[in-house]
Amino acid sequence: TSRLPESRQNHEPSTSSPLTERPRRLRRTRALRALVRETSLRPDQLILPLFVHESPGEAEISSMPGVWRQDVTRAVERAAHGQELGVSSVVLFGIPSEKDELGSGAYSEEGVVQRAARELKRQLPELTVIFDTCLCEYTSHGHCGPLHLHGPGGATVDNDAALALIARTAVSQARAGADVIAPSAAMDGMVGAIRSALDANGFHDTAIMSYAVKYASAFYGPFRDAADSAPAMGDRASYQMDPLGGYREALREARLDVAQGADFLMVKPALAYLDVLRSVREHFDLPLVAYNVSGEYAMVKMAARAGILDERRVVLESLGGMRRAGADAIITYHALDAARWLREA
Ligand code: PBG
Repeated sequence: TSRLPESRQNHEPSTSSPLTERPRRLRRTRALRALVRETSLRPDQLILPLFVHESPGEAEISSMPGVWRQDVTRAVERAAHGQELGVSSVVLFGIPSEKDELGSGAYSEEGVVQRAARELKRQLPELTVIFDTCLCEYTSHGHCGPLHLHGPGGATVDNDAALALIARTAVSQARAGADVIAPSAAMDGMVGAIRSALDANGFHDTAIMSYAVKYASAFYGPFRDAADSAPAMGDRASYQMDPLGGYREALREARLDVAQGADFLMVKPALAYLDVLRSVREHFDLPLVAYNVSGEYAMVKMAARAGILDERRVVLESLGGMRRAGADAIITYHALDAARWLREA
């Protein structure tokens, strides 16, 4: 302070200020900052992912500290804890003990997520239960649909054969009590196939949250460890979107899913695609979801553990950024921590 001119030290008003606008006036106190805050984040806008396995008990996922593969009992406990914190939605991922070529565990009435959902609905009837609808966690080869072995360029996923199995999966999930079906297989015509199958079986009120804009991202690495769903050969570049694609492709995917009856749209991953999220927000009026994926979570967790980042502030800042970019809701592995921090704030 000794270096300030005498007049400022004494708080003497400067009489000839050339500044007519001083944004800092509205940042002066905590209450003023809160009064003019433009972006809100609430626990009920967060969706908690749950990995349900068939073994008893739970095991922490090494690449995702704080996230567990759990049996049905533990998954229900975790969802109940979320509800107490104000997180009213979960999305289910299954880790079956048996996998096969056609991913039959995905559409079995006794499948692991079907059993989990029945129990969640029985014990927590107010909870919104969303199912990730895909085959990659259930197929022996780890792809999102059955393989067409002799296609041009070798093994590729057979789009139309996948549609039938995905629609069947969605119906079995609706029967198990799904509020929302969230197809993530990136197959053409997926939303339409699911909508017709649901309607044909009387599930007119089961909503579809389409992973409409889903990139072939390296940020899914830890999830594939967790779900043991990395493709045994090849990658997902022939069905998921090119990470360096642009707005036209993203808007086209969103438009097709709206036309086929989607109730929500999603952009995934979130952080590297906030511009795409904003663009989809501006072009469509459906509720929009951002998926804050496993790799995004792992980066924050590892940096926080190394003492490099303040986890709480970084998480709330990132989720707030997704909201500002246009997300109504966010699927995030940080859901329970974030809900707790939001309540304390
Ligand atoms: C299934 C699915 C994946 C994720 C969500 N649903 C994996 C993939 O597409 O490879 C990734 C989620 C995450 O990384 O958190 N298709």
